[in-house]
Amino acid sequence: MKERLDKFISSRTVLSRKEVQRALKDKRVLVNGMLTRSGDDKIDTEIDVITLDGQALSGETRVYYMMNKPAGVVSATEDRDERTVLDILPAELMRKGLFPAGRLDKDTTGLLIITDDGEYAHRMLSPKKHVTKRYIATLDKAPGSEIAERFAQGVTLGDGTVCKSGRAEPLDDSRAAVEISEGKYHQVKRMFAALGYHVTALERVRIGALTLDEALKPGEVKKLTSEEAQKVFDQI
Ligand code: URA
Repeated sequence: MKERLDKFISSRTVLSRKEVQRALKDKRVLVNGMLTRSGDDKIDTEIDVITLDGQALSGETRVYYMMNKPAGVVSATEDRDERTVLDILPAELMRKGLFPAGRLDKDTTGLLIITDDGEYAHRMLSPKKHVTKRYIATLDKAPGSEIAERFAQGVTLGDGTVCKSGRAEPLDDSRAAVEISEGKYHQVKRMFAALGYHVTALERVRIGALTLDEALKPGEVKKLTSEEAQKVFDQI
């Protein structure tokens, strides 16, 4: 299949078209071993070998699915005892190399991305990228207004770990919205525990600027375009 070089690169990587233009200018792209700087060159995706920083880009497009993770399944590719998020994918979507980008606890619900793009997952989880995740936490008692200030200051967990500044706001007499940009083990639950609350349910509703589609029922998935998937790197 013939395709524009810049479009091909951006659909197989996490780079935007603009970033691809820069990569071309910076001589990071080779077509069949030859340097090229022209993004509008047409390439044959089945024959030509395109490399970015020496890594060959596969002719196969990367896939990204948004899942509304149900409670009771683990965010892993395989598990001896538990059902995983991959086990509940519809058979027609199963393909080799899929994995969840990031983890939610077994009892946590909501937005999870399933992909075969390792670089994307790595970038999303990198502490340097500061990708913000928004959660709705249901608590054992009404959240007080102090949670906003405590999250903003950076909560110190029970084991002494100091969390980066986050955001929290009471929503009603049992729920709070939380935004954090780290991914420590059981982080939201432990942050609330440090403030004297017990989290009875937790749902992730947004990553970066990508919001959980409310039409997705627990366990359902929908395919994302690579542009939609890139929204995790944008801020709201
Ligand atoms: N924080 C938690 O405590 N659990 C999750 O699953 C995600 C964030």
